[in-house]
Amino acid sequence: MYNIALIPGDGIGPEIIKEGRKVLESASKQNGVEIKWTEYPFGAEHYLKTGELLPDSALKEMEDMDAIYLGAVGDPRVKPGILEKEILLKLRFYLDQYINLRPIKLFKGVPTPLKDKKPEDINFYVVRENTEDFYVGVGGRFNGKKNQDHLEVIRKLYKASIEVNFELEKEEEIAYQVGLISKPGTERVIKYAFELAKKKSLNLVSSVDKANVLSNIYGLWRDTFEEIANQYPGIETEFTFVDAITMWFVRKPEWFKVVVAPNMFGDIITDLGAMIQGGLGVAAGGNINPDGVSMFEPIHGSAPKYKNKSVVNPIATILAGAMMMDSLGETKLAKDIENASEQVLSEGKVRSKDFGGSSSTVEVGEEVVLKLRKI
Ligand code: IPM
Ligand code: MN
Repeated sequence: MYNIALIPGDGIGPEIIKEGRKVLESASKQNGVEIKWTEYPFGAEHYLKTGELLPDSALKEMEDMDAIYLGAVGDPRVKPGILEKEILLKLRFYLDQYINLRPIKLFKGVPTPLKDKKPEDINFYVVRENTEDFYVGVGGRFNGKKNQDHLEVIRKLYKASIEVNFELEKEEEIAYQVGLISKPGTERVIKYAFELAKKKSLNLVSSVDKANVLSNIYGLWRDTFEEIANQYPGIETEFTFVDAITMWFVRKPEWFKVVVAPNMFGDIITDLGAMIQGGLGVAAGGNINPDGVSMFEPIHGSAPKYKNKSVVNPIATILAGAMMMDSLGETKLAKDIENASEQVLSEGKVRSKDFGGSSSTVEVGEEVVLKLRKI
């Protein structure tokens, strides 16, 4: 039996999680597995009503669970950043989910905007670092009236070679944000990428950075990548700059097998990855701590304008559920869900709006369950 925390969240979150849960329950029953769900109300509604975001007591409870299944957080009534930082990022950081694994896979029957590319051309993994880089939240925004001490920080951070007038007028503003890369933090995510390549018999790991400009942090990233790569002589490697890789994702996606990226570049390139695999409706991801509690979610957000309309595609969330079961060691169960989803997509009889169909969120979820029963 698995204890799983359920956070449906905001916008379309509850609708897609409902379908994901339905599919997981059905697949579990078929495979003699039991799931005990503990549902949490965290998100915009709860925050606006109670002022509470994510209490320590809940974090402590989740620490003892097997996994977390998350819909989405984000709501136009709440200033951007609050729910994201205080719920989603807090969970990632607190549970030290240092891997963000995002498979980019074009399923049969799914339209890709890339002309002439087929399912066999788009099938790779992005391993995104998930706890460091520009996500550490170090920075400041200030003007000449207040927080003069930030000036000291900036003076220290700024290259002396660049002359900057630090005599701020009262109303003038300066802001800065620091990216931080640590050797152990980089080692563990790059190791994970190589182990993944080994496990899946993939012979190329591509490293993403911008070491030509941000040479301190991504210089360390590069050095660490080289060190780890030496431990895997059978696997080929390459360095790619983040700007260039966006071009190659579009031009030659068949080149890639495992891509490992620092947090922010990983964030950006996986939205592009989601598009080439057919859109956010099918893109799933896992926030993974291989020795702790991991959290699985669709890559898309809460899409408030579609809330309660039952028009969005639940497949991304369903596939995130499959990734969750796979991480718990239930490989057959996970495969069953993936196969059932693939059948629904390739058959195309039941199609959600994003693929030009008119099936509802519920109909897609139910069709996956029907296909599961026939496996
Ligand atoms: C993602 C999202 C988050 C991120 C936001 C909502 C904080 O874009 O999961 O990719 O930047 O990591
Ligand atoms: Mn993102």
